[in-house]
Amino acid sequence: MQTHEIARRFTDHFTGTGHTRVASASLILDDPTLLFVNAGMVQFKPYFLGDAPAPYPRATSIQKCVRTGDIDEVGRTTRHNTFFQMAGNFSFGDYFKEGAIEHAWRLITSSTSDGGYGLDPDRIWVTVFHDDDEAAGLWQRIAGIPAERIQRRGMADNYWSMGVAGPCGPCSEIYYDRGPQYGREGGPVVDEDRYLEIWNLVFMEKERAAGGTKDDFPIIGELPAKNIDTGLGIERVAYLLQGVDNVYETDLVRPVITRAEELSGRRYGASHEDDVRFRVIADHARSGVMIIGDGVTPSNDGRGYVLRRLLRRIVRSSRLLGVQEPVLGAFAEVVRDEMAPSYPELVTDFERISAVVRAEEEAFLQTLTAGSRIFDVAVADTRRAGGTTLAGDQAFQLHDTYGFPIDLTLEMAAEAGLTVDQDRFAALMTEQRTRAKADAAARKTGHHDGSVYRPLLDAHGTTTFLGYTELAAEGTVVGLVVDGAAVPAASEGQQVEVVLDRTPFYAEAGGQQADHGVLRTGSAIVRIDDVQSPVAGLRVHRGTVEAGTVAVDDAVVAEVDVARRASISRAHTATHLVHAGVRGALGTAAAQAGSLNAPGRLRFDFTSPSGAVPAAALAEIEEEVNTKLQENREVETYETSMDEARRLGAMMLFGEKYGDRVRVVDMGDYSRELCGGTHVARTGELGIVKVLSEASIGSGVRRVEALVGNDALRQVSTEHLLLSQISDQLKARPDELPDRIAALVERLRTAERDLEKHRADAALGAAGALADGAEDVAGIALVAVAAPAGVSGNDLRALAADVRGRLGDRPGVVALFGTDGDKVSFVVATTAAARDRGLAAGKLIPAFAPAVGGRGGGKPDLAQGGGQNPAGVPDAIAALRSALAAG
Ligand code: SER
Repeated sequence: MQTHEIARRFTDHFTGTGHTRVASASLILDDPTLLFVNAGMVQFKPYFLGDAPAPYPRATSIQKCVRTGDIDEVGRTTRHNTFFQMAGNFSFGDYFKEGAIEHAWRLITSSTSDGGYGLDPDRIWVTVFHDDDEAAGLWQRIAGIPAERIQRRGMADNYWSMGVAGPCGPCSEIYYDRGPQYGREGGPVVDEDRYLEIWNLVFMEKERAAGGTKDDFPIIGELPAKNIDTGLGIERVAYLLQGVDNVYETDLVRPVITRAEELSGRRYGASHEDDVRFRVIADHARSGVMIIGDGVTPSNDGRGYVLRRLLRRIVRSSRLLGVQEPVLGAFAEVVRDEMAPSYPELVTDFERISAVVRAEEEAFLQTLTAGSRIFDVAVADTRRAGGTTLAGDQAFQLHDTYGFPIDLTLEMAAEAGLTVDQDRFAALMTEQRTRAKADAAARKTGHHDGSVYRPLLDAHGTTTFLGYTELAAEGTVVGLVVDGAAVPAASEGQQVEVVLDRTPFYAEAGGQQADHGVLRTGSAIVRIDDVQSPVAGLRVHRGTVEAGTVAVDDAVVAEVDVARRASISRAHTATHLVHAGVRGALGTAAAQAGSLNAPGRLRFDFTSPSGAVPAAALAEIEEEVNTKLQENREVETYETSMDEARRLGAMMLFGEKYGDRVRVVDMGDYSRELCGGTHVARTGELGIVKVLSEASIGSGVRRVEALVGNDALRQVSTEHLLLSQISDQLKARPDELPDRIAALVERLRTAERDLEKHRADAALGAAGALADGAEDVAGIALVAVAAPAGVSGNDLRALAADVRGRLGDRPGVVALFGTDGDKVSFVVATTAAARDRGLAAGKLIPAFAPAVGGRGGGKPDLAQGGGQNPAGVPDAIAALRSALAAG
């Protein structure tokens, strides 16, 4: 049975039994505890917690999921996918254990002609939480599963939670026995490869707090209702029903392997090592494309880093399969074709997706080239120091600066006959991770755990936002939080978070910075410098009590800092105009990837299919935007249905979760976007928009920065002033400056080259004097000296050869030492007559090299080496002299 058919039957089964079909959420949901959506229940979390009323009593979805915790297992086991589809049915206080078990049993065991999966009931095993007699009894009664195929397990296996604060509950898992050829008897507690888990039924009835371990975490109470959350792994069912050996060979994944076989000329199934590579490619290609589809671009942290790692592992695996040319575009096409029936947006967005993978591959290939050079130097250093282990610091630098995966470093080191200090590398990685975690925690202080805010939401409902029309308003304090705990009052000097029933303050969202301002009660003043929305619907004002004491239930006048707000609104409107301008100039593949609207300035990030935006195009965008200001267009905002907004062609962001009603910001036919931000009334209020720069901020993503209004004007004046100063200094008109500066730079270059040549000539010119100064040591003409300053490398060799030539047919030895900082290099040359007497240059080195802390080698006529002790040069010369004297 094809994967799409498995999904279709699941949906049909549940919509046929009163479940509302809900579309998959984006892989990126606004949940600070999650990098990617990793279970079907994530989008329903507020309904389980009672933060929002469930719009339907029962629902079903096929959710896109990404889990990368076991990335190293991919391709090595039969069942680890980084991307998979979780089919689920959910009950919000409707049916409970009995209903969940009945539904699951019917779907998996009904015959295929009856719309089920037709699994053999006798091969099904289940697990239940150790004290869940009720579930065990239901499995016996409803499904007739004998007691010996019902196994009990503890917290770690059969009590499900998201691993963080949130809903949780005991669960019951359904397994299918693949048969004795796949492992030992004894059920899932003995062998999870033979007994394959396909479906997890969670009896979601409790709430947990953060902390604890997987098998012991704090449970803080009951959820408002008893709910059901189930998750069936579509790929796993496909793997069973299609009779293949693992999840990588199922119908939607295997075609990538086939493409990799074509590109590499190697065959899947021929060697274990190659097979793992083929499967890594197939798995990662799919997750990579799906993640990019939801708007993520490769970067060095967070989601972008996970994506980068996935894509780079594909490129790397392909190299190891012997493919040299770019591969990502080809694999992305296969994924698109396989996944499009369920995700048609992959087709419409494909230009953007392939631009992102192409740019990342190009960047990685450059990395490989640059990193390989650094690697070669590191190997040479290690060898020169007589070591066999590459330093952990070097491996870390390769990883951190050049994006070299550690397995690549390990492999290349092995090829060079070296090992790598992996302990040190791991220690540095841990240090870096700890730093990153601390950074993330600092950014989101107090925001991880919504438990302090949720009671406020329960008691008072959402904060009414008045700020589209009002900048000052009366309200009531409904909650105060100090240091993460609810308090009845806060007094002068304290940092406080204030929740009001209604507010004109805009909370940071959609790239628009938060409002600042003051809250005044009869007796207190609180200065607000941040506003956030840590739980959906609640606006939390953060600030300092400047005077008096503020208490819950106080009446407040909330006043927004009007100048700051106006300036931010101008920037936000300007961002929409720049967005429209960029798309007009570059086409619709230039999709918004992020933005910042701050007082007087903006940043707009977008995926660029064709790399850097040429300066001329940027100037045109700027001019077009300013024309729209002069047209003084009306900026209209209105609410409408999502369908209508789509029909109007409003731009929306990838990965954003919109409700059924959306707010549109409309500047006529030029710009129309879904947006919750604040804007000016007419474009003329912006005055002027000045684009400052355009640059890359990561693979395929460009950033435009611009200033708005007086900030733009000040920038123009400052630049004008600078230009006048330079013009004065160079005594040229501004329009002559580019030529003038180019000419100056050229003259400087020529002068530097001449100087360099003179220096080299002078140094080489010393050859005659050096040869004349040869001393006689036991009948041998010896020139052993420190070379003139600045002579090293090729010059040193050339000078030695020149001096040797001037010794003619005398037996002669020339040894020159060049020093550079704390390094010494030396060259030894012998004349033919000296060699006739058995003096070989390479053999002379051990006699004196230890004095400069070094070594070297070479041929009888010319040898060289280096050391670390410049102070030892006189000793080295003396040692050479004695060696010759001793014959
Ligand atoms: N939330 C559960 C899981 O992810 C069931 O959907 O396994």
